[in-house]
Amino acid sequence: MLLPYPEFIKNYILSYWAPGQSFLEIGSGTSYMRSFIKEDYIGTDITKVDYIDGIERNVDFVSDAHLIPLHDNSFDIIFLKSTFYMMQDLDKALKEFWRVLKPGGRILIFDYNYKTQFKLRQRPTSTYSYSMLSQFGLYRLIKSAGFLQVSLLNNHFPASSGIKRYYNLIKSELLHEWASITGVKP
Ligand SMILES: C[S@@+](CC[C@H](N)C(=O)[O-])C[C@H]1O[C@@H](n2cnc3c(N)ncnc32)[C@H](O)[C@@H]1O
Repeated sequence: MLLPYPEFIKNYILSYWAPGQSFLEIGSGTSYMRSFIKEDYIGTDITKVDYIDGIERNVDFVSDAHLIPLHDNSFDIIFLKSTFYMMQDLDKALKEFWRVLKPGGRILIFDYNYKTQFKLRQRPTSTYSYSMLSQFGLYRLIKSAGFLQVSLLNNHFPASSGIKRYYNLIKSELLHEWASITGVKP
């Protein structure tokens, strides 16, 4: 059984990935994208234990995102959905993603925005030290890691300027559940 998966995320990913390009999903859980990306897909997660009965994690191998047992320069695309915010050490994890990406490869992060992360943090079952990054924080982090062509999905921020830029950024922080960013390794 697969978890429901937002269609817009699938479409967004498929707008960047082309058949034949190697695709690594970190924190892949059910590895839902495998049904579209097929043999080019590899999914890894820190555990392969089922989420709950009937919803299984379906991973190719188990590994911690902070120490990925793969060669340098291996993948065209690295993808994370609802996972980056769980990283204990964002800088260390980003260095690993950079290392296993090929030059010219792309990182795609789909995550909860600040507002959603805040709600998750309130849950009594919450065990993660959420990083609580805003979209702007995510943008700055990816840029400072050295990625180029960095852009948010709610693409007003990099494109617009001045007051409009800040207005759109605040609007997207308040209204959207998701934060999404992409960048390219030079
Ligand atoms: C909220 S789930 C999202 C799963 C999947 N990406 C999806 O959207 O359906 C987050 C996943 O990240 C995994 N995860 C958490 N920390 C991790 C780490 N340090 N390394 C690899 N995976 C991790 C969890 O085990 C979990 O399966």
